[in-house]
Amino acid sequence: MSFSEGEKMTGSGKAEKDLIVRLDGEPWVRIEDGKTLSDWVKDDEIRYNQGNRQSEKFLMFRRTFDFLTENEISGHYLEFGCHRCRTFKMALTEARRHGLDKMKFWAFDSFEGLPTPETETSVSKWVQGALTTSDAEFMELVRNHGIYLKNIETVTGFYSDSLTPSLQEKFTKEEAPIALVTVDCDLYESAVPVFKFIEPLLQEGSIIYMDDLFVGTKGSPHKGVARAFLEFQEKSAWTFMRHLDVGWWGRTYIARPRDDGFSGVL
Ligand SMILES: C[S@@+](CC[C@H](N)C(=O)[O-])C[C@H]1O[C@@H](n2cnc3c(N)ncnc32)[C@H](O)[C@@H]1O
Repeated sequence: MSFSEGEKMTGSGKAEKDLIVRLDGEPWVRIEDGKTLSDWVKDDEIRYNQGNRQSEKFLMFRRTFDFLTENEISGHYLEFGCHRCRTFKMALTEARRHGLDKMKFWAFDSFEGLPTPETETSVSKWVQGALTTSDAEFMELVRNHGIYLKNIETVTGFYSDSLTPSLQEKFTKEEAPIALVTVDCDLYESAVPVFKFIEPLLQEGSIIYMDDLFVGTKGSPHKGVARAFLEFQEKSAWTFMRHLDVGWWGRTYIARPRDDGFSGVL
């Protein structure tokens, strides 16, 4: 997701006031009133949204690493769209909590922000170069986080150039399959090469986290990463079972072999 411009904390203790608090009587939860929100400004809205969104993502990583560990699904973490290292750090932290010392963590990004969009989106700030975190800045964030540093690798470049058949072959031959993959690259044209790349690296039980299913498209399945995911599913040897809803913007899916005879609704 891209809602990063202007993010900042505007005062200590504000985040606590945003929490949903249960009450013992009507209206059963605290609902902030006009007086409480009288000095609420745009920065508060950004801070509020970001806190809510990152909390839900972190919960997804907690649940997903528990799912992977409990089901004994081993493999690597691949992230396509790394920017400020928030989701990458969440993955590292949850991996550490589950003692996954052998897991490798691959960060795929241009490290120069978005390419020039080729398809229409409804997010005006998705322009060429938006959401840039350099390779050096990203690695500093990773180093400061201090978890599994030796297991982390970056692959720099726009996916149309960096996700080559030879890199895919190297992954297929030398690397473990995917345990969890995060697709957080916003644009249809960015997600298409990502799906092509990961197809042979999936295994039964791999989790795909789709971050922007409902972002930039006004919810249209004909656009954005949702379109790329649907097109990928038509050709893939895998089917994808819906697993966790992540906020209003994303979902996780469990990869299943297409020929395993599954039918029905879950
Ligand atoms: C929304 S940000 C990712 C946020 C990140 N997951 C976090 O938690 O901080 C999107 C990222 O996707 C990258 N990106 C988008 N399209 C790309 C492409 N075609 N090739 C390489 N990187 C791309 C951008 O550089 C940007 O870092």
